[in-house]
Amino acid sequence: MLIKSHDNGFIHPVSSEITPISAYQNRRELLRLMATGVAGAALATWASREAFAQTVRPNKLGALPGGKSAVAGAATMEKVTDYKDASTYNNYYEFGTDKSDPAENAHTLKTKPWVVEVDGLVKKPAKYQIEDLIKLSAQEERIYRMRCVEGWSMVIPWVGYSMAKLIEKVEPLGNAKYVEFITLADKATMPGINSRVLDWPYVEALRLDEAMNPLTLLTFGMYGEVLPNQNGAPVRLVVPWKYGFKSAKSIVRIRFTDREPKTAWNKSAANEYGFYSNVNPNVDHPRWSQATERRIGDGAGLFAKKHKTLMFNGYEAQVGQMYAGMDLKKNF
Ligand code: MTE
Repeated sequence: MLIKSHDNGFIHPVSSEITPISAYQNRRELLRLMATGVAGAALATWASREAFAQTVRPNKLGALPGGKSAVAGAATMEKVTDYKDASTYNNYYEFGTDKSDPAENAHTLKTKPWVVEVDGLVKKPAKYQIEDLIKLSAQEERIYRMRCVEGWSMVIPWVGYSMAKLIEKVEPLGNAKYVEFITLADKATMPGINSRVLDWPYVEALRLDEAMNPLTLLTFGMYGEVLPNQNGAPVRLVVPWKYGFKSAKSIVRIRFTDREPKTAWNKSAANEYGFYSNVNPNVDHPRWSQATERRIGDGAGLFAKKHKTLMFNGYEAQVGQMYAGMDLKKNF
Protein backbone atom coordinates (compact mmCIF):
# COMPACT_ATOMS: atom_id res chain seq x y z
CA MET A 1 0.00 0.00 0.00
CA LEU A 2 1.25 3.48 -0.83
CA ILE A 3 0.63 6.42 1.43
CA LYS A 4 0.66 9.94 -0.04
CA SER A 5 2.84 12.38 1.80
CA HIS A 6 2.29 16.11 1.84
CA ASP A 7 5.47 17.13 3.56
CA ASN A 8 8.04 16.59 0.85
CA GLY A 9 6.20 15.41 -2.20
CA PHE A 10 7.47 11.87 -2.10
CA ILE A 11 5.18 8.91 -1.77
CA HIS A 12 6.07 6.84 1.25
CA PRO A 13 5.43 3.14 1.16
CA VAL A 14 4.61 1.42 4.44
CA SER A 15 7.79 0.32 6.13
CA SER A 16 7.41 -3.34 5.17
CA GLU A 17 7.68 -2.34 1.50
CA ILE A 18 10.84 -0.28 1.85
CA THR A 19 13.88 -1.86 0.28
CA PRO A 20 16.60 -1.38 2.85
CA ILE A 21 19.32 0.95 1.75
CA SER A 22 22.07 -1.62 1.75
CA ALA A 23 19.92 -4.43 0.37
CA TYR A 24 20.31 -3.53 -3.26
CA GLN A 25 23.89 -2.69 -2.61
CA ASN A 26 24.41 -6.15 -1.11
CA ARG A 27 22.49 -7.72 -3.97
CA ARG A 28 24.85 -6.10 -6.44
CA GLU A 29 27.81 -7.21 -4.39
CA LEU A 30 26.35 -10.71 -4.28
CA LEU A 31 25.99 -10.77 -8.05
CA ARG A 32 29.59 -9.73 -8.35
CA LEU A 33 30.72 -12.38 -5.86
CA MET A 34 28.64 -15.04 -7.58
CA ALA A 35 30.49 -14.21 -10.76
CA THR A 36 33.78 -14.80 -8.94
CA GLY A 37 32.52 -17.91 -7.11
CA VAL A 38 32.73 -16.69 -3.51
CA ALA A 39 29.07 -16.03 -2.81
CA GLY A 40 28.67 -18.44 0.14
CA ALA A 41 30.21 -16.24 2.80
CA ALA A 42 28.36 -13.24 1.48
CA LEU A 43 25.05 -15.07 1.73
CA ALA A 44 25.78 -15.94 5.35
CA THR A 45 26.22 -12.29 6.35
CA TRP A 46 23.54 -10.86 4.10
CA ALA A 47 20.56 -11.56 6.34
CA SER A 48 22.17 -10.00 9.39
CA ARG A 49 23.25 -6.95 7.43
CA GLU A 50 19.72 -6.48 6.12
CA ALA A 51 18.39 -6.64 9.66
CA PHE A 52 20.91 -3.99 10.67
CA ALA A 53 19.97 -1.77 7.72
CA GLN A 54 16.34 -1.80 8.84
CA THR A 55 17.26 -0.24 12.13
CA VAL A 56 19.34 2.71 10.95
CA ARG A 57 18.59 6.16 9.52
CA PRO A 58 15.03 7.41 9.40
CA ASN A 59 15.24 9.62 6.30
CA LYS A 60 13.90 7.25 3.67
CA LEU A 61 12.37 8.74 0.56
CA GLY A 62 10.05 5.85 -0.15
CA ALA A 63 9.15 4.67 -3.63
CA LEU A 64 10.37 7.13 -6.23
CA PRO A 65 7.60 8.16 -8.65
CA GLY A 66 10.10 8.21 -11.52
CA GLY A 67 11.81 5.01 -10.45
CA LYS A 68 14.84 3.81 -12.35
CA SER A 69 16.23 6.24 -14.86
CA ALA A 70 15.90 5.75 -18.60
CA VAL A 71 18.76 8.20 -19.23
CA ALA A 72 21.70 6.58 -21.02
CA GLY A 73 24.67 6.22 -18.68
CA ALA A 74 22.56 6.59 -15.52
CA ALA A 75 23.62 3.26 -14.05
CA THR A 76 27.05 1.79 -13.64
CA MET A 77 27.32 -1.86 -12.56
CA GLU A 78 30.34 -1.12 -10.41
CA LYS A 79 30.09 -1.78 -6.69
CA VAL A 80 28.26 0.99 -4.89
CA THR A 81 30.32 2.77 -2.24
CA ASP A 82 29.18 2.11 1.33
CA TYR A 83 26.78 4.77 2.61
CA LYS A 84 29.05 5.27 5.60
CA ASP A 85 32.00 6.23 3.39
CA ALA A 86 29.88 8.45 1.12
CA SER A 87 28.49 10.34 4.12
CA THR A 88 31.64 10.63 6.26
CA TYR A 89 34.40 11.29 3.71
CA ASN A 90 33.32 14.61 2.23
CA ASN A 91 34.41 17.90 0.81
CA TYR A 92 32.22 20.71 2.07
CA TYR A 93 34.56 23.52 3.05
CA GLU A 94 31.82 25.61 4.64
CA PHE A 95 31.99 23.01 7.42
CA GLY A 96 35.77 22.56 7.54
CA THR A 97 38.58 21.34 5.34
CA ASP A 98 39.13 17.84 6.77
CA LYS A 99 37.21 15.01 5.12
CA SER A 100 35.54 14.18 8.43
CA ASP A 101 34.57 17.79 9.27
CA PRO A 102 31.32 18.00 7.24
CA ALA A 103 29.82 14.90 8.87
CA GLU A 104 30.77 16.26 12.28
CA ASN A 105 29.70 19.88 11.78
CA ALA A 106 26.92 20.04 9.17
CA HIS A 107 24.14 19.23 11.65
CA THR A 108 23.85 23.01 12.17
CA LEU A 109 22.69 23.54 8.57
CA LYS A 110 19.01 24.50 8.52
CA THR A 111 17.41 23.01 5.41
CA LYS A 112 13.83 24.09 6.14
CA PRO A 113 12.54 26.54 5.08
CA TRP A 114 14.70 26.68 1.93
CA VAL A 115 14.14 28.79 -1.16
CA VAL A 116 15.94 28.50 -4.50
CA GLU A 117 15.81 31.61 -6.63
CA VAL A 118 16.06 31.12 -10.40
CA ASP A 119 16.77 34.35 -12.26
CA GLY A 120 18.94 36.14 -14.80
CA LEU A 121 18.38 35.65 -18.53
CA VAL A 122 15.12 33.70 -18.36
CA LYS A 123 11.59 34.46 -19.45
CA LYS A 124 10.07 33.10 -16.24
CA PRO A 125 12.20 33.84 -13.17
CA ALA A 126 10.88 32.14 -10.05
CA LYS A 127 11.50 31.53 -6.39
CA TYR A 128 10.90 27.89 -5.51
CA GLN A 129 10.21 26.63 -2.03
CA ILE A 130 12.25 23.43 -1.74
CA GLU A 131 9.06 21.36 -1.44
CA ASP A 132 7.86 22.72 -4.81
CA LEU A 133 11.24 22.23 -6.46
CA ILE A 134 11.25 18.58 -5.36
CA LYS A 135 7.84 18.07 -6.93
CA LEU A 136 8.66 19.80 -10.21
CA SER A 137 9.51 16.51 -11.93
CA ALA A 138 9.57 12.78 -11.20
CA GLN A 139 12.55 11.66 -9.13
CA GLU A 140 14.91 9.05 -10.51
CA GLU A 141 17.78 7.07 -9.10
CA ARG A 142 21.08 7.41 -10.94
CA ILE A 143 24.15 5.43 -9.97
CA TYR A 144 27.03 7.68 -10.95
CA ARG A 145 30.76 7.55 -10.54
CA MET A 146 32.01 10.61 -8.69
CA ARG A 147 35.67 11.46 -9.32
CA CYS A 148 37.22 14.09 -7.10
CA VAL A 149 40.01 16.27 -8.50
CA GLU A 150 42.16 15.09 -5.58
CA GLY A 151 42.38 11.56 -6.98
CA TRP A 152 39.69 9.57 -5.17
CA SER A 153 36.35 8.35 -6.39
CA MET A 154 33.08 6.79 -5.24
CA VAL A 155 30.02 5.21 -6.84
CA ILE A 156 26.84 6.76 -5.46
CA PRO A 157 23.13 6.19 -6.12
CA TRP A 158 21.79 9.74 -6.33
CA VAL A 159 18.13 10.72 -6.44
CA GLY A 160 16.83 13.67 -8.40
CA TYR A 161 15.81 14.71 -11.89
CA SER A 162 17.60 16.16 -14.89
CA MET A 163 18.46 19.84 -14.44
CA ALA A 164 16.99 20.24 -17.96
CA LYS A 165 13.49 19.85 -16.46
CA LEU A 166 13.92 23.00 -14.39
CA ILE A 167 15.60 24.86 -17.26
CA GLU A 168 12.62 24.12 -19.54
CA LYS A 169 10.26 25.58 -16.94
CA VAL A 170 12.03 28.94 -16.65
CA GLU A 171 12.64 29.31 -20.42
CA PRO A 172 16.15 30.73 -20.93
CA LEU A 173 16.40 33.73 -23.25
CA GLY A 174 18.31 33.44 -26.52
CA ASN A 175 21.39 35.17 -25.10
CA ALA A 176 21.70 32.89 -22.03
CA LYS A 177 24.95 30.93 -22.41
CA TYR A 178 25.88 29.88 -18.87
CA VAL A 179 24.18 28.78 -15.68
CA GLU A 180 25.64 29.83 -12.35
CA PHE A 181 24.97 27.90 -9.12
CA ILE A 182 25.28 29.97 -5.96
CA THR A 183 25.28 28.16 -2.66
CA LEU A 184 24.49 29.09 0.93
CA ALA A 185 27.07 31.11 2.85
CA ASP A 186 25.75 31.53 6.39
CA LYS A 187 28.26 32.54 9.06
CA ALA A 188 25.88 31.60 11.85
CA THR A 189 25.63 27.93 10.87
CA MET A 190 28.73 27.30 8.74
CA PRO A 191 31.97 27.48 10.76
CA GLY A 192 34.17 27.21 7.63
CA ILE A 193 32.92 30.53 6.28
CA ASN A 194 35.13 32.28 8.81
CA SER A 195 38.22 30.92 7.07
CA ARG A 196 39.56 32.63 3.95
CA VAL A 197 40.28 29.36 2.15
CA LEU A 198 37.75 30.29 -0.58
CA ASP A 199 35.91 33.43 -1.58
CA TRP A 200 32.39 32.73 -0.28
CA PRO A 201 29.77 31.91 -1.33
CA TYR A 202 30.92 28.75 -3.10
CA VAL A 203 29.92 29.30 -6.72
CA GLU A 204 30.00 26.87 -9.61
CA ALA A 205 28.79 27.14 -13.19
CA LEU A 206 28.19 25.21 -16.39
CA ARG A 207 27.71 26.11 -20.02
CA LEU A 208 23.98 26.07 -20.82
CA ASP A 209 24.32 22.94 -23.01
CA GLU A 210 26.18 21.16 -20.19
CA ALA A 211 23.44 22.10 -17.73
CA MET A 212 20.86 20.84 -20.26
CA ASN A 213 22.64 17.49 -20.76
CA PRO A 214 20.31 14.75 -19.42
CA LEU A 215 23.09 13.44 -17.14
CA THR A 216 23.24 16.68 -15.13
CA LEU A 217 21.22 15.84 -12.06
CA LEU A 218 19.45 18.26 -9.74
CA THR A 219 19.83 16.11 -6.67
CA PHE A 220 17.71 15.81 -3.52
CA GLY A 221 18.65 12.39 -2.21
CA MET A 222 21.10 9.52 -2.18
CA TYR A 223 20.80 5.82 -1.35
CA GLY A 224 17.00 6.22 -1.38
CA GLU A 225 17.11 8.80 1.38
CA VAL A 226 17.07 12.58 1.56
CA LEU A 227 20.58 14.04 1.26
CA PRO A 228 22.44 14.18 4.55
CA ASN A 229 23.52 17.77 5.27
CA GLN A 230 27.17 16.96 4.67
CA ASN A 231 26.37 15.80 1.12
CA GLY A 232 24.70 19.08 0.19
CA ALA A 233 21.14 19.07 1.52
CA PRO A 234 18.56 20.01 0.59
CA VAL A 235 19.52 20.39 -3.08
CA ARG A 236 22.79 20.05 -4.95
CA LEU A 237 24.02 19.40 -8.44
CA VAL A 238 25.73 16.20 -9.62
CA VAL A 239 27.67 16.50 -12.88
CA PRO A 240 29.19 13.04 -13.23
CA TRP A 241 31.65 13.66 -16.08
CA LYS A 242 33.35 16.55 -14.27
CA TYR A 243 35.59 16.65 -11.20
CA GLY A 244 33.52 16.65 -8.03
CA PHE A 245 34.02 20.31 -7.20
CA LYS A 246 31.76 21.29 -10.13
CA SER A 247 28.85 19.66 -8.25
CA ALA A 248 27.77 22.52 -5.98
CA LYS A 249 26.08 21.71 -2.67
CA SER A 250 23.20 23.44 -0.86
CA ILE A 251 22.18 25.67 -3.78
CA VAL A 252 20.19 28.85 -3.06
CA ARG A 253 20.29 30.60 -6.43
CA ILE A 254 20.52 29.55 -10.07
CA ARG A 255 21.36 32.41 -12.40
CA PHE A 256 21.38 32.38 -16.21
CA THR A 257 23.97 34.65 -17.79
CA ASP A 258 25.70 35.51 -21.08
CA ARG A 259 29.22 35.58 -19.54
CA GLU A 260 31.33 32.77 -18.13
CA PRO A 261 30.78 33.12 -14.37
CA LYS A 262 33.65 33.37 -11.91
CA THR A 263 33.71 30.12 -9.98
CA ALA A 264 35.09 29.53 -6.49
CA TRP A 265 37.99 27.17 -7.16
CA ASN A 266 38.91 28.85 -10.42
CA LYS A 267 39.15 32.19 -8.61
CA SER A 268 41.36 30.67 -5.93
CA ALA A 269 43.82 28.98 -8.37
CA ALA A 270 43.00 29.45 -12.07
CA ASN A 271 46.02 27.43 -13.23
CA GLU A 272 44.89 24.40 -11.19
CA TYR A 273 41.10 24.39 -11.52
CA GLY A 274 39.77 25.27 -14.95
CA PHE A 275 36.23 26.29 -15.77
CA TYR A 276 35.52 23.01 -17.59
CA SER A 277 37.23 20.53 -15.28
CA ASN A 278 36.05 17.55 -17.28
CA VAL A 279 37.55 14.36 -15.90
CA ASN A 280 40.50 13.68 -18.20
CA PRO A 281 43.27 11.15 -17.49
CA ASN A 282 45.46 12.80 -20.15
CA VAL A 283 45.55 16.24 -18.57
CA ASP A 284 47.50 16.31 -15.33
CA HIS A 285 46.82 18.67 -12.48
CA PRO A 286 49.94 20.91 -12.19
CA ARG A 287 50.82 19.12 -8.94
CA TRP A 288 49.77 15.51 -9.65
CA SER A 289 48.75 13.04 -12.34
CA GLN A 290 45.06 12.45 -13.07
CA ALA A 291 45.65 9.09 -14.81
CA THR A 292 44.49 6.90 -11.90
CA GLU A 293 42.20 7.11 -8.91
CA ARG A 294 41.65 5.44 -5.56
CA ARG A 295 38.15 4.10 -5.01
CA ILE A 296 37.05 4.92 -1.46
CA GLY A 297 36.32 1.64 0.33
CA ASP A 298 38.98 -0.35 -1.52
CA GLY A 299 41.38 -0.05 1.40
CA ALA A 300 44.34 2.24 1.87
CA GLY A 301 48.10 2.24 1.64
CA LEU A 302 50.36 0.19 -0.57
CA PHE A 303 47.81 -2.51 -1.34
CA ALA A 304 44.97 -0.20 -2.38
CA LYS A 305 43.90 -0.98 -5.89
CA LYS A 306 44.39 1.82 -8.38
CA HIS A 307 41.65 2.34 -10.94
CA LYS A 308 42.40 3.84 -14.29
CA THR A 309 40.61 7.15 -14.63
CA LEU A 310 38.30 7.15 -17.64
CA MET A 311 37.90 9.95 -20.18
CA PHE A 312 34.94 12.09 -19.08
CA ASN A 313 34.76 9.72 -16.10
CA GLY A 314 33.34 7.02 -18.40
CA TYR A 315 30.54 9.20 -19.82
CA GLU A 316 32.22 10.05 -23.13
CA ALA A 317 29.39 8.56 -25.23
CA GLN A 318 26.89 10.86 -23.54
CA VAL A 319 28.89 14.09 -23.33
CA GLY A 320 31.88 13.91 -25.70
CA GLN A 321 30.12 15.66 -28.58
CA MET A 322 29.69 18.83 -26.50
CA TYR A 323 33.46 19.32 -26.66
CA ALA A 324 34.06 18.32 -30.30
CA GLY A 325 36.90 20.38 -31.76
CA MET A 326 37.87 21.88 -28.41
CA ASP A 327 41.45 21.77 -27.20
CA LEU A 328 40.89 19.96 -23.89
CA LYS A 329 44.45 20.71 -22.69
CA LYS A 330 43.81 24.42 -23.04
CA ASN A 331 40.20 24.24 -21.85
CA PHE A 332 40.98 22.05 -18.86
N1 MTE B 1 29.81 22.55 -2.63
C1 MTE B 1 29.99 23.47 -1.67
N2 MTE B 1 29.01 24.37 -1.44
N3 MTE B 1 31.13 23.52 -0.91
C2 MTE B 1 32.16 22.65 -1.12
O1 MTE B 1 33.20 22.74 -0.43
N4 MTE B 1 33.00 20.75 -2.42
C3 MTE B 1 32.99 20.14 -3.76
C4 MTE B 1 31.59 19.68 -4.17
N5 MTE B 1 30.60 20.68 -3.82
C5 MTE B 1 32.01 21.66 -2.14
C6 MTE B 1 30.79 21.63 -2.88
C7 MTE B 1 33.94 19.05 -3.91
S1 MTE B 1 35.59 19.48 -3.95
C8 MTE B 1 33.56 17.75 -4.07
S2 MTE B 1 34.68 16.52 -4.43
C9 MTE B 1 32.15 17.36 -3.91
O2 MTE B 1 31.30 18.46 -3.53
C10 MTE B 1 32.05 16.30 -2.83
O3 MTE B 1 30.74 15.80 -2.73
P1 MTE B 1 30.44 14.66 -1.65
O4 MTE B 1 31.01 15.10 -0.34
O5 MTE B 1 28.96 14.52 -1.62
O6 MTE B 1 31.11 13.41 -2.16
